[in-house]
Amino acid sequence: MKTLKLLPDLPMVIPFMIRLQHIFKEYETEDEKLIVLNDINLEIKKGEFTSIIGPSGSGKSTLMHLLGMLDRPSRGKISINDKDVSKFDDNEISKMRNRFVGFVFQQFNLIPKLSVIENISLPAIYGRTNVAYDPKNKAKELLKRFGILDKANALPNKLSGGQQQRVAIARALIMNPNLILADEPTGNLDTKNGNTILDLLGELNKKDKITVVLVTHEADVAKRTKRQIKIVDGRII
Ligand SMILES: Nc1ncnc2c1ncn2[C@@H]1O[C@H](COP(=O)(O)OP(=O)(O)O)[C@@H](O)[C@H]1O
Ligand SMILES: [Mg+2]
Repeated sequence: MKTLKLLPDLPMVIPFMIRLQHIFKEYETEDEKLIVLNDINLEIKKGEFTSIIGPSGSGKSTLMHLLGMLDRPSRGKISINDKDVSKFDDNEISKMRNRFVGFVFQQFNLIPKLSVIENISLPAIYGRTNVAYDPKNKAKELLKRFGILDKANALPNKLSGGQQQRVAIARALIMNPNLILADEPTGNLDTKNGNTILDLLGELNKKDKITVVLVTHEADVAKRTKRQIKIVDGRII
């Protein structure tokens, strides 16, 4: 059996906590400087169920990308368990991301040519961390839990939006993440399917003790989380 390869300098089960201190994200064009995130100070603790709410263009996705280590800030400090993320090189960061963070997006982002079960297994197969379990078996367990085991071998376009988002959540879970980041996960769903997805994210937080951060522009969606962080024009208010 393969054993889990530990990342250098990180315990296997980390008390996942992210701290952002004086974070700026800026884009410069020829004649102007766009300040997308403007002095963000924020702490996400292990076990939290939090939403980031704000109007379109306020910087929510940019902030989520920084929380998920998909991008680096222009200035400021991001720490994970008191370790300064800027000290990690890109290779270490992608390993950490693969191992500890699951992403869910508005457009599901499934690969059209791969079956449901292949989509879910992908992070465990192509990730740079060996896992101690068979990814396809785990994918099946997740599909069973989410009530769509019969779709295991189907292509994504044969599934409804709500089903596709459940597949995307299963993919986010395949590495047993400490943190799930969901960017407008109900944005392409009707109210009923949206509520099913929000129930599921709530259950993953409550039962599975996964830290969940949900990005949304809708107050009704944000209300479902215990904590709401409001962002306007790149600032937390
Ligand atoms: N790579 C980029 N280059 C230039 N501007 C960007 C880039 N990414 C985002 N922005 C701008 O940053 C602002 C915030 O974007 P975003 O974080 O996607 O907002 P939200 O998710 O809240 O709608 C927008 O004005 C957007 O146009
Ligand atoms: Mg966005």
